Amino acid sequence: MDEMPHERGDIPVSRRGLVIGATLAGVPLVRSDAAAQGAATRGSVPGSLEVSLTVNGEARRLVLDPRASLLDTLREGLALTGAKKGCDHGQCGACTVHLDGRRVASCLTLAVQADGRAVTTIEGIAPAEGDLHPMQQAFIDHDALQCGYCTPGQIMAAIACVQEGHASNPDEIREYMSGNLCRCGAYAGILAAIQDAAPKMRVG
Ligand code: FES
Ligand code: FES
Repeated sequence: MDEMPHERGDIPVSRRGLVIGATLAGVPLVRSDAAAQGAATRGSVPGSLEVSLTVNGEARRLVLDPRASLLDTLREGLALTGAKKGCDHGQCGACTVHLDGRRVASCLTLAVQADGRAVTTIEGIAPAEGDLHPMQQAFIDHDALQCGYCTPGQIMAAIACVQEGHASNPDEIREYMSGNLCRCGAYAGILAAIQDAAPKMRVG
């Protein structure tokens, strides 16, 4: 079974350990655009890095603790709370986003790894204001959610699954969606939604 795709930096100490340490020490990990502007005028923040990334088509500049995960940066630095923190260990898929068009577990991706790259979250997939992505509509049509906590990650993984060419039959879909867990057990609806949306995505 394929492991949930993610990117790992060559870092000798676990990110989680560092983040927990920073949290216990009360150290903020992310500064948003406004704070970055202030930091830039005051001079660099000790130990921090400035990164530029494109999020859902919008250029963003952030001053980051190099230990900050992409997930925490999106949720706490940019107020994009669609990607969810389930396990924070790369095991559930709730945090799935796209980095340069490839799905990643954002809890295992350092924000500095996204420097100069394009990030797409669930907030950025609809083609236009008021419209839904075919995968979003299919999840609604096939009742592919209950509590909805896993749903943003499921949809981002499902879109990637189709784009990767791994949605040709139910077994293949199950295999390539196996990194995304649903505690509510909505798997039958999720499978049906992906089968429904796949041809519409290929046409679109
Ligand atoms: S929160 Fe990232 S895989 Fe679970
Ligand atoms: S819909 Fe509740 S965890 Fe998936």
